[in-house]
Amino acid sequence: MNSDKIIIAIDGYSSSGKSTMAKQLAREIGYRYIDSGAMYRAVTLYAMRHGLIGPDGSVDEPGVVNALEDISIDFHVEGERQYTMLNGENVETQIRTLEVSNHVSPIAAIAPVRHALVKMQRAMGKTRGIVMDGRDIGTVVFPDAEMKVFCDASAERRAERRYKELSDKGEQVKYEDVLANVINRDHIDENRAESPLRCADDAVRLDNSRMTIEEQNRWLLDLYNRITRQ
Ligand code: DC
Repeated sequence: MNSDKIIIAIDGYSSSGKSTMAKQLAREIGYRYIDSGAMYRAVTLYAMRHGLIGPDGSVDEPGVVNALEDISIDFHVEGERQYTMLNGENVETQIRTLEVSNHVSPIAAIAPVRHALVKMQRAMGKTRGIVMDGRDIGTVVFPDAEMKVFCDASAERRAERRYKELSDKGEQVKYEDVLANVINRDHIDENRAESPLRCADDAVRLDNSRMTIEEQNRWLLDLYNRITRQ
């Protein structure tokens, strides 16, 4: 029943494994999974394609804000797979490149970008029964979410995971560059003026540096069961 469904907010550092476990929990309990980071990545890809990010990485902020009215973001679900759609185009592969990762934090720091995406995210949560992951889901998007988790792992461990992910996809990257990107994004995400990354007071913290994917999935499902059976 819809009224029984809750909102689950999973926040944390980049590559902390939150998407993997959020996706798995959503599948297990029949909820919709929303990757809010994909939405910031889609805006970044649009900005890159439209010359709003210079070769030196400088961002044309008014240009990006103006472009917001021309950007529509959606998720297309096909069985177990989910694709991010930017103005009707499947951009799932393009938004995961290191190039997009390198430009996304300054885009995500622009207040009107955040306001527009938070509005979309709240609309997606109207029906409840969602697991959303990101940086500000438990603090800003859904401060009343019934279940909140904040995920962390060492920067080296997170860089290893992201390096493996990119290499498996055939992207030629150096581990040192991935680590630098992880550290740099942490810094920008934690220090931006608009809704910086922080753990909500009522979130359950998880450091998964030494956990396998199966262990963290089980941990999350146990937490969900504890919360919903109270
Ligand atoms: O989770 P991710 O690495 O795909 O997120 C990409 C970037 O988007 C990340 O550097 C920070 C930003 N982001 C954010 O500011 N707020 C969110 N709710 C989700 C992501």
